[in-house]
Amino acid sequence: MTTKMFAAQTLGCLIFLALASTCVHANSPQVLLGNTTLIGRDVTLSNQDFFGGIPYAEPPLGALRFQRPVLKTSLDTAEFDASNFGFSCLQEGVPVSELSEDCLTINVFRPSDATANASLPVIFWIIDPSLMQAQLWHKVLHGQEAADRKALNLGLSDQIAALTWVQENIGAFGGDKDKVTISGESAGAVMTAVLLLNPDISKFARAAILQSGSAATALTYGPLHRQVDWDNFVAGVPGCENLSSTDNTFECLRSVNTTAIFDGLVIAQNEITERIPWSTTIDGMGGFMPELPSLLFAKGIFAKMSFIAGDDLDEVMANFSPPAVSEPQVKKTVAQLVALYPEIPALGSPFNTEMTPSVLALDLENGIKLVQLLGICSSIRSEDPGYRQRANAGVKTYVVRLKSLVQSGPWGQNFNYLYGGVQNATASDTVLSAAIIDYWVSFATSLTPNDGKGVSRPTWDQYTPQNPVLIQLNGEIQ
Ligand SMILES: *[C@@H]1O[C@H](CO)[C@@H](O)[C@H](O)[C@H]1NC(C)=O
Ligand SMILES: *[C@@H]1O[C@H](CO)[C@@H](O)[C@H](O)[C@H]1NC(C)=O
Ligand SMILES: *[C@@H]1O[C@H](CO)[C@@H](O)[C@H](O)[C@H]1NC(C)=O
Ligand SMILES: *[C@@H]1O[C@H](CO)[C@@H](O)[C@H](O)[C@H]1NC(C)=O
Ligand SMILES: *[C@@H]1O[C@H](CO)[C@@H](O)[C@H](O)[C@H]1NC(C)=O
Repeated sequence: MTTKMFAAQTLGCLIFLALASTCVHANSPQVLLGNTTLIGRDVTLSNQDFFGGIPYAEPPLGALRFQRPVLKTSLDTAEFDASNFGFSCLQEGVPVSELSEDCLTINVFRPSDATANASLPVIFWIIDPSLMQAQLWHKVLHGQEAADRKALNLGLSDQIAALTWVQENIGAFGGDKDKVTISGESAGAVMTAVLLLNPDISKFARAAILQSGSAATALTYGPLHRQVDWDNFVAGVPGCENLSSTDNTFECLRSVNTTAIFDGLVIAQNEITERIPWSTTIDGMGGFMPELPSLLFAKGIFAKMSFIAGDDLDEVMANFSPPAVSEPQVKKTVAQLVALYPEIPALGSPFNTEMTPSVLALDLENGIKLVQLLGICSSIRSEDPGYRQRANAGVKTYVVRLKSLVQSGPWGQNFNYLYGGVQNATASDTVLSAAIIDYWVSFATSLTPNDGKGVSRPTWDQYTPQNPVLIQLNGEIQ
């Protein structure tokens, strides 16, 4: 980990990187950014410097609410206290004292011996452990008015602002702006993947790592599909209620305070039955997602950028079986499948197989198996075309599957291994974690996971059209 920097965004995130073992020294690390001295924090135990809560855009308040970010690459004070994380964006489940709409900040971790001319590769980590809720609450707008005002997918514009900040400023910390790897897990991976649909993203980065998420992970629709969620939100904002279902809400929404916005978000959230509602929207020509990712891949419209992608074994099951999804929901889904795929002997259905939806739907256990099967198929189907099309275009592609079922369930485990944070790690977990860290560092440094440095680990074969392989990393199953 000593040859890498992290530029991580706290954009509506839970603050998850514990700084408990740190102490602020009289000689805190400092970086000169334009005319401003940033005073950071010495993370002694991991031999790192931390600079946190650095704004990369003007606070998106008042007239700037629901607008594209206004980039801010320098600060107007002589000194800036960068010893802590910034605020989290509005979301449930985080203490209100840690929330603010003024949440467009970036954090930099670097090896403590890094100098301004060190030219270290940079991992740009898009944070979002709690899929779509946190960041996207802040800036995922739905509906006709947002489309008319070109205000869809605003959260992705925030990522571009942060990437621009990195281009301007990471050199001052010792980073090399020409060696940026965009990465993220879960929603962070989804957003990274959507950014990669745009060939222009290579102005900001040369590689990407996507853990448990692709551009098609969340169900993707045009702006009107979730109009109802937007209308519910507006109806829940005190002072703007009577504008709900009109196409003239923005002015009012910009005039109310944060409490009112938060009230509306909570009310909208309570009305929602969709599992991942606040996700990216097809935003048309010139947008981040002009059409469905599958169509873009088929047309060869995507960044020709080296990437690692992968997921955890059976993570779909953790997410889409009871208790994550209620039994009535499973049964409802199976009933819909049976309706969509009726058994009509005249048409040959059920195709001489006993595995038909109505057979599987007879009891809950079989119904769950059916939903899981479809979930697994759709997960593979949503990701694999993206691998193939890119490999066909000569893009360096590495695919990984992590197999380690620890107590908390498989979803997101790769994230814990990457940060060396597997709780109560067994010896095997520790070995796996060290290997994952070194694969990632190797890739960010030299665009191959196999640089031969760091811990001894298996060679990871590239996914090619002739040899479409993935590496499976096995941890101990508890
Ligand atoms: C730094 O200060 C100088 C002198 O006041 C000014 O000309 C320059 O624009 C400032 N730079 C930034 C990045 O603010
Ligand atoms: C980096 O800068 C330091 C201090 O200015 C200097 O001593 C060192 O030689 C430089 N290293 C390189 C590789 O340029
Ligand atoms: C909504 O209420 C405000 C006063 O609270 C009023 O000025 C406005 O005309 C109303 N708008 C509509 C569409 O009823
Ligand atoms: C927000 O605005 C409402 C209505 O004007 C007001 O009652 C409330 O006190 C305000 N909240 C804060 C935190 O300012
Ligand atoms: C780790 O071990 C502690 C103490 O035995 C226990 O309380 C905790 O639940 C364990 N955590 C996990 C994730 O297993």
